[in-house]
Order: sequence, then structure tokens, then C-alpha cells
Amino acid sequence: MTTTNASDVKLSLTPLFSAGEIAARVAELATQIDKDYQGREILMIAVLKGSFLFIADLIRAVKTPTIIDFVRLASYGSATQSSGIIEVRKDLEMSIKGKDVLVVEDIVDSGLTLESLRNMLLNRQPASLKICTLIDKQAQRVTNVPVDYIGFSMDNGFIVGYGLDLDERYRDLPDIRVVEGV
Ligand code: IMP
Ligand code: MG
Repeated sequence: MTTTNASDVKLSLTPLFSAGEIAARVAELATQIDKDYQGREILMIAVLKGSFLFIADLIRAVKTPTIIDFVRLASYGSATQSSGIIEVRKDLEMSIKGKDVLVVEDIVDSGLTLESLRNMLLNRQPASLKICTLIDKQAQRVTNVPVDYIGFSMDNGFIVGYGLDLDERYRDLPDIRVVEGV
């Protein structure tokens, strides 16, 4: 697909993970999560905005009783490079004290955003804290933040679709595509 963005740059979006592949992987992750959380209730935390479709699918695939809350973070730095200084734009509404918390992220890249969020959440004394990400960009990692559940791994490239954006566009695509300038 070739598309034109607001600044009139032509981009090509090359399919990477189809809607069917994503659904199949979400089902596998849900099976793994159900096994690990038997007899408990999960508090899933969506990191907005990127993970909104992923968590919507995951929460319905998981059979373990699940409640949900949302955070919105902004990281200072350039558009493509996170500085590690995180601003909480929207905090959780629930207390997580004593809860089994599962953070649901779209992409872990440098890991700086997640590390900062993890430290903030650990201070609030959850019973447990695990992390699930749709995409793991391991090659870009500069922290050793533990990631417990990984949908797909990739090395480099910028992706959009299924909730992921480029300047707020393409979140509505049902599949994941790699952005290439043409
Ligand atoms: P980091 O791990 O702190 O470097 O930042 C990860 C965040 O950057 C993700 O949660 C996404 O919001 C964003 N991000 C990183 N790579 C991509 C990409 O390929 N497409 C869209 N957003 C991305
Ligand atoms: Mg994110």
C-alpha cells in the first residue's frame, strides 16, 4: 500500500503480520497467561494509546477473570528516541496494592518507558507484576527490564497498524505493516 501523509511524504506500508497471524498469536499468549494465573484475578494495565486493540483482543481471549485499567505516558525526547524521562499523562484509577498486575504494552524498544513505569508500579506494592508486549524490539534495548510475554520479536524497522501509529495515523489498520519511505 502506498499512502501520502500530512506532510506530503509518500510512504509504502509493507505487510508484516496479518490480522490472522495476530489473532493466532493472541490466542497462544492467552493460553500461556491462563496457565500462569490459575485461580487468580488479573489486573491488566493498558499503556495507551498503542496497546488499545491488543488489550481488547487479549482480555477476551484470556479465560482467567480480568479487570482493566489504563495509563497514558509521554516520554520526553525526540520523536524516535525516548529519553527515559516519563511523564504520566493519565494515571491509573484503581489501587494496584495486593493485585496481580499484568502490564500490556504495544512495543518495548529501548525499554526506558517500561522501566520507568515498572518502578512506579512496584512502589505501589502489587502482589505480582508481569509485562506482556505485542512486539519486542530486543536489538534496541538499553535496559534489562524483564518482559514475560512476547507476541512477536523484530530487530529494526518502524511499524504501524493494529493500534500502532506514525504521528497518530494508521492505528486503524487491522494488520501490522513496516513503514518505508519511497
Ligand atoms: P521505549 O521502549 O521507551 O524506547 O519506547 C517504546 C515506545 O515507542 C512504544 O511503546 C511505542 O509507543 C513507541 N514505538 C517504538 N517503536 C515503534 C514502532 O515501530 N512503531 C510505533 N511506535 C513505536
Ligand atoms: Mg507505547
